[in-house]
Formats: sequence, C-alpha cells, structure tokens
Amino acid sequence: MPTIPPLPPTLAWRGDLHGHLELLDQTLLPHQRLVLALHDVDGVIEAIASLRVRGAPAIGVAAAYGLVLGLRALSPLREAFVDTARSVAARITAARPTAVNLQWALDRCLDAARSEPSLASVFGEAGQIHQDEVVMSDRIGQHGKPCVPPGGTVLTHCNTGRLATVGDGTALAVLFAAWRDGVRFRVFADETRPLLQGARLTALELAAAGIPVEVLADAAAAGLIARGLVQMVIVGADRIARNGDFANKVGTYGLALACAAHRVPFYVAAPLSTLDLRLADGLGIPIEERDGNEVTTLAGQPICPPGIGARNPAFDVTPGKLVSAFITDRGVLQPPFDAAIKGTFAVGR
Ligand code: MRU
Repeated sequence: MPTIPPLPPTLAWRGDLHGHLELLDQTLLPHQRLVLALHDVDGVIEAIASLRVRGAPAIGVAAAYGLVLGLRALSPLREAFVDTARSVAARITAARPTAVNLQWALDRCLDAARSEPSLASVFGEAGQIHQDEVVMSDRIGQHGKPCVPPGGTVLTHCNTGRLATVGDGTALAVLFAAWRDGVRFRVFADETRPLLQGARLTALELAAAGIPVEVLADAAAAGLIARGLVQMVIVGADRIARNGDFANKVGTYGLALACAAHRVPFYVAAPLSTLDLRLADGLGIPIEERDGNEVTTLAGQPICPPGIGARNPAFDVTPGKLVSAFITDRGVLQPPFDAAIKGTFAVGR
C-alpha cells in the first residue's frame, strides 16, 4: 500500500462569528490538495453544486455554515430575521435536491432562528450540527463494526468516508472502526462513474488508513458478487424513507439486486440526519439530474461522438426490502424497517 499523508479536514469554520468556512476542494483529489476559504453564501452554494464538498452529512454542515455567511452579509433586522433566513436557506437547498441532510441542517438552523432571531443563535446551531455529525459518525462505526466479516472482502460504492462527512464517515466509518479493532479484510471500491468518487476518494481514504483496496469498474461488481468473491456490500444513503426505501449514488440499486440474487449481506450505514420521516416510501425522493457532460467526458476529454447527449441521474432508489440491515447512530436496525424506524427515530426529529 502506498503511504499517503493525512488529508486536511473536509471542512472547518475558522474563527468566531466573523470568521469563514474552509473546504477541501474534492474535485481536485487525489492529485491536488487545495483548501478553499469561503466568505459568502454564493461560494458555499457553488461548492455544494459542483461537488467541491459532497456526501450527505458534509453538505448538511456546509449548508448550515453557508446560512450563517448569507445572514451575516444581509444583517437583517430582528423582525425580518426569520423570513430572510428562510429565503437564504431555500437558495442553499436548491443546490442539491436529493440528500435530505441539507434540509435537515437548515431546518435546525431555522428553528434556532425562530427561538432567538440572531446571527449568534444560527451560528451556535451550525456549530452544534457539526459536533452532532461527528458523534453520529463515530457511533455508526461502533454499532456497525461487528458486521464486517473477518478475512472477507467488502464491496462499497461511491465515497462514504471522512470526505463525505465531518467525522469518520458512514459506511467507511464501519470499516475504519473494524480495522482499528484488528479485524482484517479487503475492499473492492466501485470507481463510481461518472465523477469517480470511489476511484478518487474512497481508494485514497482506505489506502491512507492502510486498508487493502482495489478499484473496480462499476460493471464488474455483479459478476464478482455472483462468483462468491464478495462477503458483504456496504453503502451510505442520501435519504431514507419510513419503509426503508433509500436513495444513494446511482448504481446502488443494481448492487442491492445482485446481493439479493446471490444471498450476500447488503448493509446501509447512515445517521439520523439522513432519515426523511415525511416520506412513506422511496417514490417521493427527488432525484438530482446532473449535466450530461459529466457522462460524455472523462478527465475533461470528450469520449462520445460530437452531438451525443447523456442522461445523468446522480442517485437511484433502492427498495428497503433488499436491505439486510441499516447501521445507524442509534444501533443496527433489522427488518421490518417501518416498525424499526418508527421505534428508533420517532423521538429526536
Ligand atoms: O454525489 P455525492 O458524491 O455527494 O454522493 C454521495 C453518496 O452517494 C454517498 O453514498 C452518500 O452521501 C451517503 S454517505 C455520506
């Protein structure tokens, strides 16, 4: 395994209320490590929309700090504070529609603004959300580590590690925690077309932790699962409905089908902030459609004949019935998920 120096934090607020947000620009990884200093909400919206910061929990925290920057610039009167906060929050939410964490974090900030209409109160809530996400990440790792098969091969999709959160991650937090406890295993990381979060980010994070990892073309996964070469698949989630249907990076549904066909355990790791209790099932999950250029180019080079367009849904929805268990910060939830989710998460939202 190559030796990889530790990465800077995914994001950090520097200074007090008058400070700024720092973000590691993930579009440049693994080759370049550039930390951006963002002083206004437009910069945060651009960073979320262009995936400089990405991963459901990380964009939630970035959104909360973005709201602080937006309100600071406008400095609304106390009477207009909540309305102004609502309109800034709506602009941030539109940056990426699928991950509910964005809405969850902004709703928490808006609740804080309603209780105490001041910048200090929203800033305090943003900091609290940041801390809560660190704790949730850690708990996911602790709850999930017994699921990792010693000596086995684990397959994962997209990036669900420190870069996707502000803690150890979601699915990767489980792998990091097991590895720290001395469990030994290998990982197949799907490259995750079209933006290659698996090849660029997951491979980087696992190699930095000393965990053996090989990158796969996404289309290779089902065949390897069918040949008995994978003992567990673990992914994250961007939005989970009350019945366990969930959205995650496009390609996740196919993995779940392959696991069901070949009786391989399929786990989903996610914090409380990823649950959308308003949705009875996955039908109502909005799926982000991104620019077709992301599919028709590779590393900036066109790969299709001129004039060919592309469909580019960034996520898909996997039915809860294909999930073996949800690994959450509140414990491991077994089917039937409607009852498990209701019992576990009804309190605290
Ligand atoms: O488009 P991205 O890179 O933000 O997609 C990220 C994922 O799909 C992750 O699996 C998800 O956010 C959950 S884990 C942090």
